[in-house]
Amino acid sequence: MAGSFILDKMTKYTTNPLFILAPMDDVTDTAFRQIVSSCAKPDLCFSEFVNVDGLMSPGRNRLFSKLEQADSEPPLVAHLWGSKPENFLDIADQVASGALAKEIGNLNNFAGIDLNMGCPARAVIKGGICSALIKNHDLAREIIEATRAGNKGRLPLSVKTRLGFEKIDPDWIRFLLGFDLDMLSVHLRTVKEMSLVPAHYEELERIVKERDELSPSTLIIANGDVQSRAQGEELIAKYGIDGVMIGRGVFHDPFVFSPKSPWTSTTKEERLKLFLKHLEIYNEWAKNPDKGVKRLNKYAKIYINGFDGAKELREKLAKANSILQMQEIVSTGV
Ligand SMILES: Cc1cc2nc3c(=O)[nH]c(=O)nc-3n(C[C@H](O)[C@H](O)[C@H](O)COP(=O)(O)O)c2cc1C
Repeated sequence: MAGSFILDKMTKYTTNPLFILAPMDDVTDTAFRQIVSSCAKPDLCFSEFVNVDGLMSPGRNRLFSKLEQADSEPPLVAHLWGSKPENFLDIADQVASGALAKEIGNLNNFAGIDLNMGCPARAVIKGGICSALIKNHDLAREIIEATRAGNKGRLPLSVKTRLGFEKIDPDWIRFLLGFDLDMLSVHLRTVKEMSLVPAHYEELERIVKERDELSPSTLIIANGDVQSRAQGEELIAKYGIDGVMIGRGVFHDPFVFSPKSPWTSTTKEERLKLFLKHLEIYNEWAKNPDKGVKRLNKYAKIYINGFDGAKELREKLAKANSILQMQEIVSTGV
């Protein structure tokens, strides 16, 4: 069964922790996930967050690019947000049955369903959703139960959240542990802290203790500031967690999931070739590739970095109007 991936891991998680690529909106699309996977494969990826209310609207197919997956990628969890429990129910059914993956054209079904309860963007908080659910247990409960009703146990169900809203809120994590989730990923900061303070790793001790008491089969995944696989392994060993989720660490090292990343010793040519590969994958995949120039320029700092003339090359790229121009500019450096 496609969705058995996380469940398989659950039976042997102590010796086989999960290393997961975090969801990052407008960043972790299929093209970027393919690049990260070609460097060092994560065990699991999350999609960008996708709105269930939008997926239930007539323009739903405009959101499909956020859920597309190439065959070369690791298993992909559908990472959802929204406001209406009934839409979570319908979309969970479409995800779990494989109907949505089929409609999008993905070869594989999703490996799980994850609910976003951590996004700190002002607009979503104003709408009372995502991280605002930390302060609205009733709606959080309705959303989890509706998703569970639509899923009918077919795929692993998980939540990605933060430690609390204004301050660290143990009740919130305990509340979530009451739902017998398959996995709980915790970005170890409060909503108010955004990403402005170091992750509170020390909170993992309490979270794991409460998991053991309240919901022993829920995998606990730590997220925040992990910059290398070795650092993730240390956290796993120290706190007895089941895995680590890495987001911005890939910006500093696309090989971050590798036990022995070669990134610091890669040459300028190797870095630029990797960027050219990214541009090529994006160009083949995107419906209007040239509309992605601005987006692709945001990745430039990953690859065009750490060598003489990098800043000047990035400045040239910022003026490009097409993927072809970007490819020509990057090629001059190879
Ligand atoms: C550009 C960007 C977009 C993000 N989009 C999402 C998102 O769609 N859903 C989500 O749960 N978290 C999102 N996050 C938060 C990350 O998944 C992660 O929790 C956070 O960056 C902390 O982990 P890190 O220190 O490893 O980056 C985003 C973060 C960044 C930097």
